[in-house]
Amino acid sequence: MSAWTAADLPRQDGRTVVVTGANSGIGLVTARELARAGARVVLACRSFERGRAAAATMTGEVDVRALDLADLGSVRGFVDGLDGPIDVLVNNAGVMALPYRLTADGFEMQLGTNHLGHFALTGLLLGRITDRVVTVSSGFHRLGTMDFDDLMWERGYHRWKAYARSKLANLLFTLELQRRLAAADAPVRAVAAHPGYAATGLQAHTETVQDRVMGLLNRVVAQSPERGALPTLYAATQDLPGAAYVGPDGPGEMRGAPQLVGMSGAAQDPAAARRLWDASEALTGVTFEFAGSGVAASA
Ligand SMILES: NC(=O)c1ccc[n+]([C@@H]2O[C@H](COP(=O)([O-])OP(=O)(O)OC[C@H]3O[C@@H](n4cnc5c(N)ncnc54)[C@H](OP(=O)(O)O)[C@@H]3O)[C@@H](O)[C@H]2O)c1
Repeated sequence: MSAWTAADLPRQDGRTVVVTGANSGIGLVTARELARAGARVVLACRSFERGRAAAATMTGEVDVRALDLADLGSVRGFVDGLDGPIDVLVNNAGVMALPYRLTADGFEMQLGTNHLGHFALTGLLLGRITDRVVTVSSGFHRLGTMDFDDLMWERGYHRWKAYARSKLANLLFTLELQRRLAAADAPVRAVAAHPGYAATGLQAHTETVQDRVMGLLNRVVAQSPERGALPTLYAATQDLPGAAYVGPDGPGEMRGAPQLVGMSGAAQDPAAARRLWDASEALTGVTFEFAGSGVAASA
């Protein structure tokens, strides 16, 4: 059988998908392909204008909405402005290896954007999600560690370690969400994906000369955003078990066709996942409520 590509996407007519960070890179391709396959796609973008420009490159039903994951007020505003059920939420947006800075709510920016913003968004939307939550992590999660006494890096910031922690948090969140959905007998799945290495805008957000040289070199070996989006598209549309993690099948999971891949031991630590969940609820003020087969969240 030949490798799975976007041409193998099943029709998505009648389905609604929300994609965060849909104006660039993997999110843009994910949104574009799902819309092409017939889904109504909500492009959840930090910049409405960049979202509109991306939407202009797509065919099908696309709807641009402003969402800044680094501002919980914006997350709540986005959720309040959305109507109707959502089949799939794709938690894709991310920032990488930024200098130390804080979100509007005082969280370290990478954990705040990549994990806490998506945690709040998922919790607030959960009662309307009918099929699955897909969260985009990274091979970098393997370098991540949790320090619950200093989640926000107040005692010595390291921008790459902070990125790795945020991507580890994406997987701890996915597994804990899946455990809670299953315990509530909910018909919703939590799964994750990673793109391998893809040349996108992500490297452009890093700011030192070394980063730019590295980014330039890496672009020579990186795969296209089209290829990088395949694990997300696969995770969003294929019949996978909850807690599945999809990545490229090539050497080092850097490139290739989507397949189920493994994750680090740290990502599978249920005690750490519970602790992160409790901390995330306390920090964001978003409490997930799982009741029977239905799910709902309160803020
Ligand atoms: N590219 C890779 O090789 C690679 C490898 C492993 C994992 N990933 C993961 O893949 C995901 C997508 O990244 P990408 O490579 O496609 O990078 P990208 O082209 O830079 O896209 C990132 C997207 O996230 C958005 N974003 C950043 N901060 C945001 C915020 N506060 N609120 C809302 N949206 C925000 C960006 O919006 P703006 O355009 O406004 O900045 C952009 O649309 C990320 O989760 C990343 O960690 C990528």
